[in-house]
Amino acid sequence: MCGIVGYLGPQSPKDIIISGLKKLEYRGYDSAGIAILDQGKTKRVRAQGKLKALEDKLVGEKFDGHLGIGHTRWATHGKPSERNAHPHQVRGINLVHNGIIENYLDIREELLAQGADITSDTDSELVAHLIANEVEITKDLFQAVERTLGKLRGAFSILVMWEQQPDRLIAFKDGPPLVVGLGEKEMFVASDVQALIQYTKKFVYLEDREIADIKGNEVKFFSANGFPIQKKVVELNWNPEMVEKQGFAHYMLKEIYEQPRAVASAIEPHVNPETFSVALKNVGFGGVSVQKLDELDSKADWAKTQEMFKGIERVFIIACGTSFYAGLIGKYLFEQLARIPVEVDIASEFRYRNPVIPPKTLVMTISQSGETADTLAAIRMAKEMGATTLSVCNVRNSTIDREAHGHLYMNSGPEIGVASTKAFTSTLAVLNCIAIALGRTRGALDEKTEAELVKSIMAVPSQMEGVLAFDKYFEEAASGLKLFRGFLYMGRGTSYPIAMEGALKLKELAYMHAEGYAAGEMKHGPLALIDERMAIVMVAPTDHLYEKTISNLEEARARGGKIISIGTGDNEKLRAISEYYLAMPKAHWTTHALLSVIPLQLMSYHLACSLGYDVDQPRNLAKSVTVE
Ligand code: F6R
Repeated sequence: MCGIVGYLGPQSPKDIIISGLKKLEYRGYDSAGIAILDQGKTKRVRAQGKLKALEDKLVGEKFDGHLGIGHTRWATHGKPSERNAHPHQVRGINLVHNGIIENYLDIREELLAQGADITSDTDSELVAHLIANEVEITKDLFQAVERTLGKLRGAFSILVMWEQQPDRLIAFKDGPPLVVGLGEKEMFVASDVQALIQYTKKFVYLEDREIADIKGNEVKFFSANGFPIQKKVVELNWNPEMVEKQGFAHYMLKEIYEQPRAVASAIEPHVNPETFSVALKNVGFGGVSVQKLDELDSKADWAKTQEMFKGIERVFIIACGTSFYAGLIGKYLFEQLARIPVEVDIASEFRYRNPVIPPKTLVMTISQSGETADTLAAIRMAKEMGATTLSVCNVRNSTIDREAHGHLYMNSGPEIGVASTKAFTSTLAVLNCIAIALGRTRGALDEKTEAELVKSIMAVPSQMEGVLAFDKYFEEAASGLKLFRGFLYMGRGTSYPIAMEGALKLKELAYMHAEGYAAGEMKHGPLALIDERMAIVMVAPTDHLYEKTISNLEEARARGGKIISIGTGDNEKLRAISEYYLAMPKAHWTTHALLSVIPLQLMSYHLACSLGYDVDQPRNLAKSVTVE
């Protein structure tokens, strides 16, 4: 979950690497470092803490070289400290690493027995030692890396340079993502295209066990055992402003505000605004590569997707964290609208449970990053067991996207804040489209109901604009809310996953105790927690479960709990019994969750800000969890 950047070319490597690392800081931020080859010698600067600490150290440092690598770290082996920060340097070899070397204890013992001078507690430094040993024999960096790979076990990516070959960079991927950026007479490497999009739009994504050998202006690709391979160049149409803060105090706030646009982009390819119908576009079930998806004949592709939908008997939805909660809402949508049984599973449970996946099962993964290690392992396992797989991703061409049979996109644009917001609501929008498409294809929905459902999802972007007004409300309410000892979030139906998502947002941003519960479970335990210092956040839309939810609220209030409620319209009853009442626009049950999550996102954001926490980079977390 670390971030890697490398540069070889005529511009200042320092400036390019630091600007790239800034875009990657979401991946890890407990230390950072840079190494630049300057007149035959490598100059290395490392610092514990956020990238800012490294930048401060670099003030006044002059670098004249044209080759460099940089790293921002999320600690796995060895605590956050300067000595454990990357790049690791061993006899002219400089290396940055992302991932885990599983056999590091054996390697360490062997190196110590040979008298190696090991200066950190990391598994990464050991790889630099192995390459330094090999390069003494091979006198060639590529061959040294190739010979080292066979000694390493685990899931890892590395980027290496050597003082004796000053126009060469070697990148290897087996697990965490790496991409090569192709410039005019310059070459880039990074963990994520976001780091490079301001310099180039042309990228080559490394697959597992592939090596990129960059020499001057050229790059060649090889398999781990040295066979040359041909790779596709992907051209992205992102613009650099998409990854800037654009005047907002934090990326997270910007991304909360982007939700109306993100949801509109998520549904746009699939809904027909004239006929109010859904046809899923460019899903690619016919075996089309991800790069070719946009060139598909959409009519034929939709026919293939429908054929697949007709043939399945159940759906598994697999994901982690916020994406898992989106999956839980998917269960309500798919079961109600398409009358198909759905199981939702946390990827880290699914992959180790030896699950039963009967024939005719569609396994769907949800992952914003498309790189989450457990979700990736789950989709691989499902494929091996013969299931048809469908990925819902935000990052196109990410590993999960590339490996799935079918592909759908959140289309949210880059999400930088570690806490997911717009990717969550965009996923809910896509899930609505899939549910309607499944329902229609399988004969569970008629045309009239389809039109009604499409109208409600199309109404969401403008409804969201109104709900964003709670930004100001929570800016003021935060000082009172932060006095509560804990928060119990509850809801029924699709509001139950929203309760869990609200609680997760509060935990990860404001570091406060919060739990999400199905309201019907309250009497089975959580009621004991309630007193006047406990806030009860109840998501209570006016739906068929409303009366039951109100009874739960009364019970909580009778025990002294202070109520924050989210209801539909100007609800007198809820307003009367709540300390804080948040009115949502009237929405169909299928889309209510896209609206009610917004005040919960804003509440967590403002509580965290008023407590002085770093909202975009909460402690101990990283955006892309590429290790399990
Ligand atoms: C929480 C959050 C995480 C992610 C989870 C899965 O705000 O963002 O819980 O949802 O780590 O990540 P993806 O969706 O990239 O697989």
